[in-house]
Parts: sequence; structure tokens; C-alpha cells
Amino acid sequence: MKRKERAIIAVDGYSSCGKSTFAKAIARELNYIYIDSGAMYRAVTLFALRKGFVSGGVADTTKIISSLPEIKITFRLNGDTGFNETLLNGESVERELRDRAVSDNVSAVSTIAEVREKMVELQREMGARGGIVMDGRDIGTVVFPDAQIKIFMTATPAVRAQRRYLELLEKGMQADLTTVANNINDRDRIDSSREISPLRQAGDAVVLDNSEMTPEEQMVWFIKLFNERMNEN
Ligand code: DC
Repeated sequence: MKRKERAIIAVDGYSSCGKSTFAKAIARELNYIYIDSGAMYRAVTLFALRKGFVSGGVADTTKIISSLPEIKITFRLNGDTGFNETLLNGESVERELRDRAVSDNVSAVSTIAEVREKMVELQREMGARGGIVMDGRDIGTVVFPDAQIKIFMTATPAVRAQRRYLELLEKGMQADLTTVANNINDRDRIDSSREISPLRQAGDAVVLDNSEMTPEEQMVWFIKLFNERMNEN
């Protein structure tokens, strides 16, 4: 595999279709940095929840915007897992970010233009030197429109709900399949229909429907794509 050029790889797609598992695996394969942009929106949401600025899917936009200067999001390499963990004002919040309350309120927070501006600025700083895999909803369309490789991931709703459900159980969290499926549907609807940076496939993105693919098959698919693209440049 040609590795001299440190590319930017954008992985966008629907909730729970395995974006982060796939993006982490390719970052490991290429020895690139992996950034979970969803974790950044989740961290802002956690901050807003703790302050009482969002609840029941309704955000107090004014209060969230005025507290943005108080929110510092950074990543730190966890030596045990080998991956970055998210810090909110210096506190590791990796586990809290997956809480139901965060999942239920993150779409409301991530529709706020000022929140997005701040996150996009941070994301661009992180990708400035290339050698990065970033997953999210608007990475190939807004954050890095010139990314060398853009992948748009999808899977059937049933497969996605089942995967998220098992993931929560594995983490020892309480879960119910119908509730999980409803949360995924709600988030997809809000993420795709919001005015600013909606989830949509970039014109030059390659679709990966992994409903029936194993992680190994996805890796074979990616390596072929990477070699083709990087040898073209
Ligand atoms: O990838 P995730 O499910 O952890 O993302 C959580 C939410 O954050 C998602 O419902 C929408 C929002 N998000 C976003 O608006 N833009 C991104 N680039 C990433 C996530």
C-alpha cells in the first residue's frame, strides 16, 4: 500500500451503521489519527445537559451559544485501548457520551449553527496535516470538501438497530431494541433534514453498504479503494 502521502479520509453516514468501527480499523491499518466528530457534538450536549440547557430534545440555544467559550474539547490517547478518548474541560467523558440522555438530545444541540462553526473549526485544525480518518455526518461535504477519499456508509435500519442494541448490552448498559430503533430513526430524520450541514452523500463519495459485510470484507474493500485512489494522485 502506498503510504507516503498523508491523506484525509472522510467517513460519513447514518447513525449506527458501523462508521466508527470501520474508521478506527482503517486508521489503525494506515497508522493515521482517528477522530470521532460525533463525540465532539456529544460532549457539547453533555455539557448542556449538566447545566440544564437542554432536555427532552429541546435546547436553550441562547444559553448554549453564550456558554460555548467555556467548553473545551480535546482528545487524549488512551494507552490501553490505543485510541483517543474525549475530554470535556479536561475530564474524560468517553462513557457518559454514550448515555441515552446524550443520544436523545444530541441532534437538538448539533443543529445550532454556532456549535457547528466551533466544531468544524476544531476539526479542520486537527486535519491540517493530513494522515487523519474522521467520521461524522458532514465531513466530506463541509469539513473537508477536498478530502482525497470520501466514504458514505449505510446499512439497513434493522441491522443498524440490532448492532447498536448489542453494543449497549456489551457495555453493560440497559437497552431495549424498539427504543434503540426509534432513537436511530429520530436522529436520522433530524440529521438529514436540518438546515445547516444536513447529512447527505457528497457527490464524489463512494457508498459502502455494509449490511451483509464482515469487518474483514470491509477492510478488503477499503484497501482496494485506497490503492486505486492514492495511485491516481
Ligand atoms: O456519530 P454519532 O452517532 O456519535 O453522532 C452523534 C450526533 O452528532 C448525530 O446524531 C448528529 C451529530 N453529528 C453531526 O451533526 N455532525 C457530525 N459530523 C457528527 C455528528
